[in-house]
Amino acid sequence: MNILIKNIKSLAGIRDASVRLLKGKELSDLPFIENAFLHITSGKISAFGKMDELSAYLEGNQSSINETIDASGRLVLPCYCDSHTHLVFADTRENEFIYKIQGLTYEAIAAKGGGILNSAKKLRDMPEELLLEKAMKRIEEIISYGTGAVEIKSGYGLSYEAELKMLRVIKKLKSIAAIPVKASFLGAHAIPVEYKDNREGYLQLLINRLLPEIAAEGLADYCDVFCDKGFFTPEETDRILSAGWKYGLKPKIHANQLAISGGVQAGVRNNAVSVDHLESMGQEEIDCLKNSTTIPTMLPSAAFFLRMPYPPARQMIEAGLPVTLATDYNPGSSPSGRMGFVVSLACIQMKMTPEEAINAASLNGAAAMELSDLTGSITVGKKANVIITKPVNSITNIPYSFGNDVIERVLIR
Ligand code: NIG
Ligand code: FE
Repeated sequence: MNILIKNIKSLAGIRDASVRLLKGKELSDLPFIENAFLHITSGKISAFGKMDELSAYLEGNQSSINETIDASGRLVLPCYCDSHTHLVFADTRENEFIYKIQGLTYEAIAAKGGGILNSAKKLRDMPEELLLEKAMKRIEEIISYGTGAVEIKSGYGLSYEAELKMLRVIKKLKSIAAIPVKASFLGAHAIPVEYKDNREGYLQLLINRLLPEIAAEGLADYCDVFCDKGFFTPEETDRILSAGWKYGLKPKIHANQLAISGGVQAGVRNNAVSVDHLESMGQEEIDCLKNSTTIPTMLPSAAFFLRMPYPPARQMIEAGLPVTLATDYNPGSSPSGRMGFVVSLACIQMKMTPEEAINAASLNGAAAMELSDLTGSITVGKKANVIITKPVNSITNIPYSFGNDVIERVLIR
């Protein structure tokens, strides 16, 4: 397919291929061209520039154009890159939504057998084909919301068979989805009921049986652990992550959602690609990230849904950190995969500017999945995964119009 988008009011998120991750102040700049064109050839960005350069460009370019899109009054941006989801799940959990309204905390619901264990019960009974069908629908849904790359975790199986089933579903999604998919093994999401009095037995199942099989079948890119109060300790996290490294699985972990849990430090000392959540952060955690290559990823729609404090985004940006935004799409703490809403929350609740939030949700999201070479910016040679907005005044309209759909069209490749 050879597509020309012309008369673009503003083409934003333009980057040189060498720019892979934005830190601190760099996040505030979202480079753009006004009155621009974008040319897509065979699914990739082949050229872009100012409209008054278009005729000269077309003269020198012989390839025939299959479709021309007039984007007058509209913005064109790189698709969002959602680096943290749990979108393979059997069913929603509305009953827990009612508990939350009645005032129960996330931990109290988990202690009642709800939460992650509730999802595990449902997933174990569901055939692989049906799980795949449901997850595929969710991927199509998030693409329509502007997501052009996604990471998906296991962790609702919590048994040998069911974790492998989940990861095989994610592997199939990689081959059939229109967007890049990365897989994380999150067997250490909760201790399953069968192992309630035998934590060591469950750790051994993860380390000695699951990890070798996952590596043999090539089922995961990353190893995740829910390192938090009431879930897995930093010491258990160290054991699981170093076992994962032996099989080439880099860590990307859940840290500091429920408490100052030592999760950030565990991520950094195990060279995690990212530490995600970060609702509970102190100066020590921020300093620890400063001396590392670990990417801090914030999931504000989970804080919103669970009525929890938001991560200290401004402090992290001021400390020069490469903050990133993702949805955490899952049935327990963020039953929404809308990156646009996450961007709005980042601005409204965490005082990020629209430019910072969009950068954190696109290029930095790509980096948190090690996909910076493929996507996350308007760069010649990258995948042509782009959002075309409705007619809007400016980029600020994207977070300003929270919950509304400012997207008119999403082009994938
Ligand atoms: O990232 N915090 C841990 N895991 C998920 C929620 C899982 C669930 O409640 O089902 C999260 O928020
Ligand atoms: Fe999560």
